[in-house]
Amino acid sequence: MSRLGNTSVTSEHIFMAAQKFGTPFYLYDEQTVLDKCHDVLKMPNAFGLSVSYAMKANSSRALLQLITGLGIDLDLSSLNEGKRAHLAGIPCSRMMLTTQDVPLGPARKDLEEMILKGMRYNVCSLRQLELIADFAVAHQITLSIRLHPGVGAGESVTRNTGDKYSCFGIHLSDIEKAMALARQKGVVFDQVHVHIGSGGDPELWRSNIDRELSYVEKYLPDVKIVNLGGGFKEARMPDEKPVDIQDLGLYASNKFHQFHQRTGRKLVMAVEPGTYIVANAGFIVTSILDKKSTGEDGFNFLIADAGMEANSRPLLYGSRHPFFIISRTGELLSSEFDLSELYPEADYRVVVGRCCESGDSQSLDAHGHIIPRLMANPEQDDYLVIGGAGAYVAAMSLANYNSYAIPAEILLRTNGTFQCIRAEQILEQMIQNERSL
Ligand SMILES: Cc1ncc(COP(=O)(O)O)c(C=O)c1O
Repeated sequence: MSRLGNTSVTSEHIFMAAQKFGTPFYLYDEQTVLDKCHDVLKMPNAFGLSVSYAMKANSSRALLQLITGLGIDLDLSSLNEGKRAHLAGIPCSRMMLTTQDVPLGPARKDLEEMILKGMRYNVCSLRQLELIADFAVAHQITLSIRLHPGVGAGESVTRNTGDKYSCFGIHLSDIEKAMALARQKGVVFDQVHVHIGSGGDPELWRSNIDRELSYVEKYLPDVKIVNLGGGFKEARMPDEKPVDIQDLGLYASNKFHQFHQRTGRKLVMAVEPGTYIVANAGFIVTSILDKKSTGEDGFNFLIADAGMEANSRPLLYGSRHPFFIISRTGELLSSEFDLSELYPEADYRVVVGRCCESGDSQSLDAHGHIIPRLMANPEQDDYLVIGGAGAYVAAMSLANYNSYAIPAEILLRTNGTFQCIRAEQILEQMIQNERSL
């Protein structure tokens, strides 16, 4: 079987797309995005479910249109994300802004306009509350409040957003102050929000549900929506285990029912996944440019025509992405999803990019050390495909490092055709804002 991972992308697709568009490019599988969205929309719930897509994971316009077209709203981390989504035709009423930014300065007018058009505002600090309260009350707009529970979980410490090493939301030690200010101003919080991190232990995600409901009971009499954030653990590599979100939904649903029995309040559950929806739908398709070795005690290097500038995650977090080697005629030579047979000249190899930096490797651990991986021995011009590349890859790239262009983004449609959803950057675009001496 020549499928890449659990997606509908095959080695033949890679070959055809590479012929058509030239490498490197990002390739997204529409079917996987649709399947993942439906998975989340089917989450069991007690009194209603609201799903938002965390667009920071991948903000490509066509993907936003695809995802929101299924009834999923948007979680924004900046006002610009909202403007971008609005330019893609998505109404403000389908968005909520959760940001570290403060509602001041030149963007304040735009912020107010978007709130008046229905964008929800999630208050993330006491200062944000002070700055937005009068406006909200004057226009009878209810707000959401993001709380900092002091407990979090992430795939790495840098993606834990709930413990004392991060500062997202109003810490519990300030909640009395926040509620007093809200009462004094007349602010109504009808939503509470906690996002404890990305890709952490599902057990902690579970325990956050209990914690968040206890805040609603103790402090938040007007809350109708309990937003549990994103952060569902996805498995990019075959040896990883994804969270069972149906099971999480069942757990949450029981807790919401118990809460109702205790308090008489029926709460809507909200979730805002990014990774879970797009991570495994994405690939980076590269060509092997060169092969080198560093001697008997060294490593076998494969030099691909995209690396850290297209995917910074290995360098940032030591993240692992599955590798697929495909011959220049479209034959799948090796896949990390099936290492049962010995591929031609299978050996441990290191995948690097073209940047002048030894950290430009897709085969790193969390400390930046090279970790070779088992794969076939490609020839020059064969394809090396990097999987699990739909979330926080194009969106979080180190664009233009070494002046390499941002690759095109291509969508494999469910009818088998390819659609370019973002053209490759050209040199003129890279330098257009520069000014000569
Ligand atoms: C507030 C908020 N919600 C949702 C998400 C999405 O997280 P994930 O991509 O892990 O699902 C993030 C990511 O950092 C976030 O900060």
